Amino acid sequence: MRMSHLLAGAAIALASAGPVLSRPAPPAAAAPVSEKDAEARADRLLAKMTLEEKVGQLSQRFDIASLFPTGAVAPPGMPPMTPLDDNVRKAELGAVLFVHDPAVANKYQKLAVEQTRLKIPLLLGYDVIWGMRTMFPVPIATASSFDPAMVEQARGVAASEARALGIHWTFAPMIDIARDPRWGRIVEGAGEDPYLGAAMAAAQVRGFQGAGIGTPGHIIAGPKHFVGYGASMGGRDYDSAYLSDSELHNVYLPPFAAAIDAGAGNIMSAYMDLNDVPASANRTLLTDILRGELGFKGWVVTDASAVHNLVKQGFAEDKTDASIRALMAGVDMEMSMSPNAFSTLVGAVRASKVPMKRIDEAVRRILTVKYRLGLFENPYVDAAAAQRVLDDPAHAAAAQVAAERSLVLLRNEGNALPLVAGAQKRVAVIGAMADSPGDTTVSLAFPQDAAKAVTIFKGISERLNGVATVETTPGVQLSRLVPSPLAGLRGPAKLWTPAQTADELKKAVDLARRSDVVILTLGEKIEMSSEQASRSDLTLPGDQRKLLDAVLATGKPVVVVLMNGRPLDLTGVYDKVPAILEAWYPGSRGGAAVARALFGDVNPGGKTPVTWPRSVGQVPTYYARNLTHNPDTADKRYWDAPSTPLIPFGFGLSYTSFTIAPPTLDKAELAPAGRIVVSTTVTNTGKRAGDEVVQLYIHQRAGRQSRPIRLLQGFERVTLAPGESRQVRFTLDEANVRYWNSVERGWVIDPGAFDLWVGNSSTAQAHATFTVGGKPRAAR
Ligand code: BGC
Repeated sequence: MRMSHLLAGAAIALASAGPVLSRPAPPAAAAPVSEKDAEARADRLLAKMTLEEKVGQLSQRFDIASLFPTGAVAPPGMPPMTPLDDNVRKAELGAVLFVHDPAVANKYQKLAVEQTRLKIPLLLGYDVIWGMRTMFPVPIATASSFDPAMVEQARGVAASEARALGIHWTFAPMIDIARDPRWGRIVEGAGEDPYLGAAMAAAQVRGFQGAGIGTPGHIIAGPKHFVGYGASMGGRDYDSAYLSDSELHNVYLPPFAAAIDAGAGNIMSAYMDLNDVPASANRTLLTDILRGELGFKGWVVTDASAVHNLVKQGFAEDKTDASIRALMAGVDMEMSMSPNAFSTLVGAVRASKVPMKRIDEAVRRILTVKYRLGLFENPYVDAAAAQRVLDDPAHAAAAQVAAERSLVLLRNEGNALPLVAGAQKRVAVIGAMADSPGDTTVSLAFPQDAAKAVTIFKGISERLNGVATVETTPGVQLSRLVPSPLAGLRGPAKLWTPAQTADELKKAVDLARRSDVVILTLGEKIEMSSEQASRSDLTLPGDQRKLLDAVLATGKPVVVVLMNGRPLDLTGVYDKVPAILEAWYPGSRGGAAVARALFGDVNPGGKTPVTWPRSVGQVPTYYARNLTHNPDTADKRYWDAPSTPLIPFGFGLSYTSFTIAPPTLDKAELAPAGRIVVSTTVTNTGKRAGDEVVQLYIHQRAGRQSRPIRLLQGFERVTLAPGESRQVRFTLDEANVRYWNSVERGWVIDPGAFDLWVGNSSTAQAHATFTVGGKPRAAR
């Protein structure tokens, strides 16, 4: 087990990277049922079902009432908040989403198993994305940890909390590759890189599902959105995506392949058009690729109302046409906000427009999973036991470790950080997100739990208790020009008047003046990221630059803590401030983690999983681009700006320093079916313990297709004491050099020369070469 000794000694160390969390036995645990047994039972049940009952199993509905707090009024455009009792009683639904109260879960299950003819229990699904009650850092943050073991544990905690509340299945992980920071949903994934994305995808599936479907205390993972949603044009949410066959296979599919290999039970189909065919009615994607190439065996659910949307998208004539085409493309279950379009399938079968065989296939997949979960033996959740799971102190400890390991130190000129606790008697914590629990984390259904989040101000106050006075003020107010779709959940925002705006800024400057150091949080409010949260600009919203300049003008030392869900244009920040710590949205224990990093109790060791452009005009920019015919002018792509990004992929600093020795290879040639072991030695040359992420990149020099200038093909995060060295070994085999060739439409291996680098970012310098032997060949 790798465990940073920086973390040791506290309860915090519990969740570092090993299987040490105490997992209380889940309520309503049922013995897992084998796949074969489940299938046989599903077939026997299927034989008794009417067509209407079968179609009901293929339908999932939003429980709008569960989505909103009691007494709330659904925002315009949302269907009424009527509970689904009647639909469940009439066997019209196979699954419901958004139930998160054990009493409601049990109410629906009771209706399903006591009042329907065949007593088939419901599947209850929920967006457990970065936590259930205990909130972890957002996924782009946990990807920054380059620590899949930690991420697996974090998802395990979320699964145990969700299962305790009666949830069986999550619409997660979100594993869309995202190379455009304008796209708001970049926050939900692991960034731009397919190799890191695949590692994080597999870790999350293992974390959610445990040893496999039906593992007590775990839930089914539903990786999403299949596929290409992250490539929406202009970073505009929902817009069409266009991907070449090469990009689809080499960049966007690998996280899905990894998630499926890790056993993911479900896949969610995306909304948008991919190459002019909506992903949720795209047979090439949902059948040929998903089942044929990737070998997926579970069931496919659509994204919300995606079948109805096929009509809006100008693809299907009406909801019958939409349902037929989605089902025949490979969708097994329709997720819908309003009454399900799939109910039209009853008529479609009777009119011989859909073969019963296809309906049976989809129903069998859904029933099989219900048997594997043990729901027929026990559909209920033990409401009385749920609180015990939610209150497990190990969960908060895991959230804190996750936050600490996700921090990225972006800048630290003159060793401005860490600060020495108590050296400054008056500490100012300024910024719109500085003391905002909702912006430290967000919990869709449990705003009251988000309210308990440790903010940056709270974390610093607790850390400096008794040794310094800590004060806070926001300084600025940030708001969206177009309100967030979730704004209705939070009630109307009270916007500051111009006089208040001036007054608040003055208050912040006054606080800075009477302080010895200013910790300034800059970035975006949490509702500026995620769904319907794309931007046309990446600069700091609102008056934050003005606030920064005013605070800097006081002459007081300033440290910036960034809170954001996407790379930002840091013009006017990066060049003016000596220390920048990227906290992302760090979760329930985020403020405590940030405080420990600022005062040197932990040493930041994360790396950015996405390239930071200097300005929005550089988008898209990612490290794994191809060479061009004119590589000598690669630094002159623009005449009005540098061509390099502000911060390269894989970059992050530490309070200590490391050297990474030139790589040595145990052989110079990768023979067919062979392997090469690459070794390097990483040494902590500084005075503090710390973590380094050793990264390995390769480049194919020539072949049947141009290949990226660099590709990540290995990484390992290591913790080293001052002066300590560690050998890190990576094994390369054919999987590392194969690629999808868009001319031959298959995986191939090209023999020839490859470059290899090891280092601590995508600009790694320590270089070696190797060759791939044999003939040009197909690969699996
Ligand atoms: C999102 C999905 C999500 C679903 C259910 C959709 O709007 O695109 O990612 O799982 O809603 O909440």
